[in-house]
Amino acid sequence: MSAKPRKKPDELRSHRWYGVNDLRSFGHRSRTAQMGYHRSEYAGKPVIAIINTWSEINPCHTHFRQRAEEVKRGIWQAGGFPVEMPAISLSEPFQKPTTMLYRNLLAMETEELLRSYPADGCVLMGGCDKTTPALIMGALSMNLPAIFVPAGPMLRGDYQGGFLGSGSDTWKYWAELRAGNISEQDWREVEEGIARSPGHCMTMGTASTMTSATEAMGLTLPGAASIPAPDSRHAQMASQSGKRIVDMVWEDLCIRDIVDARAIHNAVTTVLALGGSTNAIVHLIALARRAGVALDLERFDALARRTPVLADVRPSGRFLMEDFYYAGGLRGLMSRITDLLQPDAPTVNGRSLGENLHGAAVHNPEVIRPRDNPLVASDGLAVLRGNLAPDGAVIKPPAMEAHLQRHTGPAVVFDDYNDMAARIDDPALPVTADSVIVLRSAGPQGAPGMPEWGQLPIPRKLLQQGVRDMVRISDARMSGTSYGACVLHVAPESHVGGPLALVRDGDLIALDVPGRRLELKVDETELAARRAAWTPPAPRFSRGFGALYLKHVSQANEGCDFDFLGHAGAAAEDPEIH
Ligand code: FES
Repeated sequence: MSAKPRKKPDELRSHRWYGVNDLRSFGHRSRTAQMGYHRSEYAGKPVIAIINTWSEINPCHTHFRQRAEEVKRGIWQAGGFPVEMPAISLSEPFQKPTTMLYRNLLAMETEELLRSYPADGCVLMGGCDKTTPALIMGALSMNLPAIFVPAGPMLRGDYQGGFLGSGSDTWKYWAELRAGNISEQDWREVEEGIARSPGHCMTMGTASTMTSATEAMGLTLPGAASIPAPDSRHAQMASQSGKRIVDMVWEDLCIRDIVDARAIHNAVTTVLALGGSTNAIVHLIALARRAGVALDLERFDALARRTPVLADVRPSGRFLMEDFYYAGGLRGLMSRITDLLQPDAPTVNGRSLGENLHGAAVHNPEVIRPRDNPLVASDGLAVLRGNLAPDGAVIKPPAMEAHLQRHTGPAVVFDDYNDMAARIDDPALPVTADSVIVLRSAGPQGAPGMPEWGQLPIPRKLLQQGVRDMVRISDARMSGTSYGACVLHVAPESHVGGPLALVRDGDLIALDVPGRRLELKVDETELAARRAAWTPPAPRFSRGFGALYLKHVSQANEGCDFDFLGHAGAAAEDPEIH
């Protein structure tokens, strides 16, 4: 596919380290010998960096130690020299305040590992939410040949004869526990059964969404993203990926040769057909900017209007990723939307996306719906604008109760997460099912890190009345496994003076999803007075990575990348330093 001539050994980037005959290269060779490698094992071979986000604190990547060995097996067989390089893991369940604070750190680490060491190509090993976009963002900025090995979803959760879905069923049974409908023992059984194998969350959360987007972009071998983590076919995919990256180096097939406007279009369309996580909006905008491809919120909204949701997978649908795999996986789904994709887009295996979809089939039309019976005909995501969100906000209509799509109600405002936690269940809180709950200080700078707090809890007294959904608004993100009438990513955020900072208890807020509007029904004179009286809160960090983050992070509609990284820029090597 690549029109470039095949590389010769002395044209490899690693030749600078290993192939020349000077004092520095003596050091590189003697130290490689120190690690037990004979010169014949690496001389003239592509050095493949395996960027592995394995960690003992990341349950989604527990199999990555073994998978790295399988990747290495493929690299050796194809005549490459594998070098495993661990990178910060970003463990979604454990890292506080949120992994999103560190996405750009992993992206920087990936880019700098590749730049500073003798990598000719790389295998990116990720899956748990932010690891996928971070690895790709960093690799895009360095622009070497790259292939992605997705962690794969974990097996279905198991509970009292039924299935449990990551995240979604946590929220569901937590609400039932608070409403008094299940016992502490039931809740304990949910805890023990909901995550029972290696692999990332197995609902259509951020992990499944982003690994699927990565495959749609052409950065994995065909079918890779849907294989459950413990399946033996996952190990085979890892070794095949290792084999392929060696040839990609000789072909000089670099990541930016693959991630172009067609690839981004295919990623967005696929995410929409999956009913994917709203987090994909932030990540794909950041990633597209690194690739030099224009992508904004309007593009998501325009594509959502014409793209049906075909994956009947939780939280929007009924099934889980294991079912999705058996039903034909992502190739099956994409084969049903080829007319909405750009099939001539290149992929890592040297063939086009369309060529890779030949022979793809759907084996269970309940899980991957036909076009004439979609889960949702269109509008898997919607972008809202209005005086409460001048730079946009997003909502996931299929995950909300339909009667709330047009709703006006009085605001109940919480200044920050702690305020909300302290008062949300207060029996005296003046809240009804018609209220609109507002949380501020939850954006990129305010929280900081834009955590997944956007599925604001429903007050206990309303849960006990049977209320299971109401309009909630914040500048936070929401877990892809969450659901509800939650307006997210309000930009600009309250912490930098966005209109969310001006809302007061009792103000009327109007949500109109079909009309794509989000309005604060307060006249402009009053808002101007409130704006004049507003004082910016103090920054949350004064030193360290947090201070760097606060100084440079962009708003949600711009992808939350750092201003000095969030563009295609020059990917050229730094001046050669000996
Ligand atoms: Fe890792 Fe959900 S916790 S993907």
